[in-house]
Amino acid sequence: MNVSDLREILQYVPRFRERTFVVAVDGEVVASENFSNVLLDLAVLRSLSIRVVLVHGASHQIQRLAAERNLEISNSDGIGLTDAPTLQVSIDAAIRLTNEIMEGLSSVDLRAAYINAIIAHPAGILGGVDQQYTGKVERVDVKAFKLLLDEGIIPVVPPLGFDGEGRTYRVNSDSIALEIGGELSAAKILYLTPSTSFTSPSGLPRHLSVPETQDLLKKRRSDFVPGLVSKLEYAARACVQGVPRVHVLDGAVNEALLSEVFSHDGIGTMIYSNEYQQIRRIFKKDVRAVMSLIRQSVHNEELVRRTRAEILEHLEDYWLLEIDRSPIACVALHLYPAESAGELACLHVSRAHENQGHGKKLMAFVENLAREKGVKHLFALSTQAYSFLQQKGGFESAEPALLPAERRAKYEASGRNSKVLLKTLRS
Ligand SMILES: CC(C)(COP(=O)(O)OP(=O)(O)OC[C@H]1O[C@@H](n2cnc3c(N)ncnc32)[C@H](O)[C@@H]1OP(=O)(O)O)[C@@H](O)C(=O)NCCC(=O)NCCS
Repeated sequence: MNVSDLREILQYVPRFRERTFVVAVDGEVVASENFSNVLLDLAVLRSLSIRVVLVHGASHQIQRLAAERNLEISNSDGIGLTDAPTLQVSIDAAIRLTNEIMEGLSSVDLRAAYINAIIAHPAGILGGVDQQYTGKVERVDVKAFKLLLDEGIIPVVPPLGFDGEGRTYRVNSDSIALEIGGELSAAKILYLTPSTSFTSPSGLPRHLSVPETQDLLKKRRSDFVPGLVSKLEYAARACVQGVPRVHVLDGAVNEALLSEVFSHDGIGTMIYSNEYQQIRRIFKKDVRAVMSLIRQSVHNEELVRRTRAEILEHLEDYWLLEIDRSPIACVALHLYPAESAGELACLHVSRAHENQGHGKKLMAFVENLAREKGVKHLFALSTQAYSFLQQKGGFESAEPALLPAERRAKYEASGRNSKVLLKTLRS
């Protein structure tokens, strides 16, 4: 780890202090070797004063216990029908697993409590079939969760729900995580799923908005295993219910939780509600971020050197593209009103975020802005990205003589010999 990693981590710490994360772990992940690392990640989250609720599945353990007992079960994941013998084996397997998790949490000095705070009712008759002991979350006992969380205790929630009559139901753990996340106004839900969920040929994108998630499920549903489809569906619903970020992670990856939470690239797939990505004006405090973003491009002679004073002088011209409040790209529009001209300048996308459409997005953004400002001639100067501006932005090669007089003088003095590109904006 180097100093810049530490800086990246530290910027997230104040944002998440005393916020709630719901970590939902599949039974198969609990059974895997990597679970001891997951426990250590939870200990780090707690040490940073992040409130953690741990929800676990048990499908894997239910199937194994049923096999041991030579029992044919009606369903193991809490989505299909649960008959009476399946409910019994589900309770036995789930509670055994809860106990194992409690032991694991004790081994990393974390205080935890098994909690019966999921109030459920029968899922009822679906498609003409009585689902018997399959339950649906009716309500989350928020007060009970808060009592534990306020005391620094991790509530551990098995995939079971209870009704006021003392009956137990088998409830799918993904849906439990969704309901808890919504009711506790969690900052995140993190689904840790088995590696086998990630077998789709083209994988999952790193970031998905809710409409993109819904579109993906419509078009490529059959590419994904049912467990992953269920997580994506619940993730989109959680965002709609007010959870800002839901992460789907490979539970076999060491430090998956920490890498996802404390880096803006992450390692899994993040489903986000809309304010996650934004283009915004810069303020005085952002000048340093712009300078550090463009440093490498200046070094490579892709962009012209700018001093802090020069940026400050034209502060209102500069824009930042942020992902999750971290700046990943910038652009500027300098105006020459006398010539109805504008310059698209300082376009830079950080290396880690190249080829994800951000450059095109910022070009289109500046073009729209320029139109709003009455610009007729949008130009750009480039040493190495002129074909990008031509092919992706519709700019055409032009003569330096077409530049506004003030800009032409600077161009000639710079000796950079950049190519001049022009786009005529028609209203
Ligand atoms: C040029 C730059 C802004 C592109 O940003 P980006 O976010 O990676 O680009 P997008 O994801 O929107 O577009 C990617 C497409 O542009 C193409 N592209 C990227 N850089 C290119 C370049 N220098 N020349 C030609 N095409 C380029 C990619 O091959 C890709 O093509 P495809 O869609 O056909 O696969 C970015 O690479 C950068 O910051 N470069 C350094 C600074 C610079 O030169 N700025 C321009 C000053 S005017």
